[in-house]
Amino acid sequence: MNTSYRSRWFDVCWCACYTLHVIDETGAYLSMENKQELYLRMNRQIQSVLEGCELPLTAMANTCAILYSELPGLNWAGFYLMHRGELVLGPFQGKVACMKIAVGKGVCGTAVATGAVQRVADVHQFPGHIACDSASQSEIVIPLSVRGEIIGVLDIDSPLLDRFDETDQQGLEETCRILMNAVDWTGGLLP
Ligand code: SME
Repeated sequence: MNTSYRSRWFDVCWCACYTLHVIDETGAYLSMENKQELYLRMNRQIQSVLEGCELPLTAMANTCAILYSELPGLNWAGFYLMHRGELVLGPFQGKVACMKIAVGKGVCGTAVATGAVQRVADVHQFPGHIACDSASQSEIVIPLSVRGEIIGVLDIDSPLLDRFDETDQQGLEETCRILMNAVDWTGGLLP
């Protein structure tokens, strides 16, 4: 390789790395634009898969399957649902996870107690974080509400530090809106 060719390649790679900010588990990069495009495409897919399915449990099962297979750099994606005053494990993809979480405990319980999205760049810095998989480094938890009452959370873990940014949060909030609008929550999980 001659010097000018090598230097052109260096410029191309440097520019690419400068504008990119997420690495998936295969080492591929996702640009901001690609990431927004990925969420648009994935949320369209979720919308279309959920069409005609009003059963919450069934819809959540396929939603986390799509999230887990489409989003790079995850090691867990699933739901915890409010049951008798605490969170219990719902449909998920990933390794076996803890089955009950008290409101106010961990990242999930904090999302319920505060009613706010929890975006945790480094789970080791989050007081009371519950480690279901020691590989997890960052996490995002989105509360799910029906008529103002929190009925559960979407929980997503990553083995990468600081995996979730504002674009991820917006994309996943849209995923939750699609899920909540698609299903009929009035009759329970499997009416
Ligand atoms: N880390 C969560 C527990 C659930 S697992 O991540 C699947 C928490 O601190 O609430």
